[in-house]
Amino acid sequence: MSTRRPLIAGNWKMHKTVAEAESFIQQLLPLVYAAEAVDLAICPPFTALAAMVDSARGSRVQVFAQNMHQAQAGAFTGEISAPMLTEIDVDGVILGHSERRELCGESDRGIALKLAAALDAGLEPILCVGESEAERERGETERKLRHQVQEGLAKVETERLGEVAIAYEPIWAIGTGTVAEPEQAQEAAVFIRALVASRSPEQAGRVRILYGGSVTPENAASLLALADIDGALVGGASLDARAFAAIVAAAAPA
Ligand code: 13P
Repeated sequence: MSTRRPLIAGNWKMHKTVAEAESFIQQLLPLVYAAEAVDLAICPPFTALAAMVDSARGSRVQVFAQNMHQAQAGAFTGEISAPMLTEIDVDGVILGHSERRELCGESDRGIALKLAAALDAGLEPILCVGESEAERERGETERKLRHQVQEGLAKVETERLGEVAIAYEPIWAIGTGTVAEPEQAQEAAVFIRALVASRSPEQAGRVRILYGGSVTPENAASLLALADIDGALVGGASLDARAFAAIVAAAAPA
């Protein structure tokens, strides 16, 4: 039995206005009040971060951003830096989501810089990794994960590796309704943990590995019961407070 605390994070992507976010959090808070053994985070769009931090203050709900720039400040139109997030008490940040890798050209090298900057600023990072359907079919899943994990963590000091959460999100499972089979998720998580262990066995025991991709209240329990899956990064189902709370409840050890 692992001593890692489960982490359930809801990635809202480009959904919810401030008013919608407020209404969500008021609905969620009483539903997750008792889930003391689980860490939970909501990752709203930038515009709703400050309101969500204020509404969640004093509760067990953390607030994470969905991206940030690695520089402190500068001529980077449209970007947000770590000090801007910590100023408003944001707790963490998702980095390297496959949508940003695919749609915004993010590279492993750039993500490594962001990860180091996030840790320096005191933000909890969630590094996203995962293979496409074509890569899985070609038998390249491990090659892809090795690349993304090793390069993504390249600038993290060994003794801080355990502070990073790594979300295994197979691209073919994101938003498709096709969830990974538990054996596939467990196999990928074991592989990812072994990659961390090659730098530090101790930190590999600490690092939390999440599964993401079509997680629902119905399939969450079987994924969260896996020995090396320590939580979930939830997209669509996190937009509904009841569904998200049900996933949080599935993560609480019996
Ligand atoms: P879905 O849960 O909607 O498949 O999205 C997963 C995801 O991308 C979370 O970051």
